[in-house]
Amino acid sequence: MPSNTGCTDGCASSIIHFEGYAMSAPTTQAPASFDIQWVRQQFPAFARKVNGYPAAFLDGPGGTQVPQSVIDAISNYLVRCNANTHGQFATARESDEVIAAAHQAMADFLNCDADEVAFGPNMTTLTLALSRAIGRTLKTGDEIVVTTLDHSANVSPWVALEELGAKIRKVDINVEDCTLNLDDLKSKLNEHTRVVAVGYASNAVGTINPVAEITRLAHEVGALVFIDAVHYAPHGLIDVRAIDCDFLACSPYKFFGPHSGVLYGKREKLGALKPYKVRPASNELPHAWETGTQNHECMAGVLAAVDYIASIAEHASGEGLDRRAALKKSYELIRSYERSITATLLRGLADVPGITIYGITDPKRIDRHVGTVSIRMKNRTPQEIATHLGNKGLFTWDGNFYALDLTERLGVEESGGVLRIGLVHYNTEDEIGRLLGELRILAL
Ligand SMILES: Cc1ncc(COP(=O)(O)O)c(C=O)c1O
Repeated sequence: MPSNTGCTDGCASSIIHFEGYAMSAPTTQAPASFDIQWVRQQFPAFARKVNGYPAAFLDGPGGTQVPQSVIDAISNYLVRCNANTHGQFATARESDEVIAAAHQAMADFLNCDADEVAFGPNMTTLTLALSRAIGRTLKTGDEIVVTTLDHSANVSPWVALEELGAKIRKVDINVEDCTLNLDDLKSKLNEHTRVVAVGYASNAVGTINPVAEITRLAHEVGALVFIDAVHYAPHGLIDVRAIDCDFLACSPYKFFGPHSGVLYGKREKLGALKPYKVRPASNELPHAWETGTQNHECMAGVLAAVDYIASIAEHASGEGLDRRAALKKSYELIRSYERSITATLLRGLADVPGITIYGITDPKRIDRHVGTVSIRMKNRTPQEIATHLGNKGLFTWDGNFYALDLTERLGVEESGGVLRIGLVHYNTEDEIGRLLGELRILAL
């Protein structure tokens, strides 16, 4: 195991196999080495029933379930290591170790160094802190590029800088498949562009953006690049060095960890900015960006979440691997499995009468999709559908999910937005079958 919780006195995570619930038989074409049954055994939440139906968590884009190892890591921290930092006693020292190990785990997760990783309460708060700090450096006439495809957490913090004289330029989408319009993006870049803020994947329609290409284009005009990787992180390996972005944020509660946020910044870029902070707090990276006392128990949980993802590859190969190598292999398995169940979902939806699917539907372009599918149905509001499905134990979301520019652009905001079905690697073909069955009943 790559597991290194840092806490030497029993904070180590352990995986408990949860027994006694009906598990759906996997009928998927996933690679033999992706063990869906083993994956599902790690998550105690799947024991939940609603009105006698097993709960199907198709709400991953709003937050994923956590494996037992994450629950244990948080609980063990609170039982054994709970303390503030830098004290001259055992629990404070062990807390320091957990915190350092969590930074290292996220550095392995993102492919950077531990001092380039800052923790915070969530992505939104960290992005606001970053945009405020960048705001301190802006001159009148500086431009910031945002997109119509993004969650508002990667739009509003930048739009707020209009108050300081910045000009905001918003990139449009290609409406027919909800991809970013790259020609529009190129036309909005110039020598005044200071920041390009773009999402890695859409939390509403699942489109994966070509973030490395966008970064290259932005760097050509000397702009900084901020990537919102919140929605991509549960689905694919992130490599900040390969992308070459200046900043990137994600939220561990979307990738099988606890509620928290993480900001990556290139050392020289984070170091050149002045975050708002209190005087005695450290000026060292990354702690200058970690305002106030952090959520140490969540950091223990984030560490366990990263190790859980790594353990998927280790379970498949039957051997211990270097953490980054294990993460790479795990995400290959996850991507392949998710592509397969996403194709099943898209095929099934196409057969239900009266359904409109937003985003990429062409099976040949599934590699540009993370398996988050938004639909509307003739004669039913998204809320009506979500309520019906919820009563059958099928958890989906309706509305705009803060992808407000997108639902406005698609012309659906006024009438309840869309219904979002979010697949992650713990969902099954059986759950998709149940969902499609209920949608067919609603379509009658
Ligand atoms: C794509 C995307 N970006 C940003 C956010 C905001 O993340 P947080 O809740 O950590 O602030 C979300 C949350 O749903 C999201 O899906």
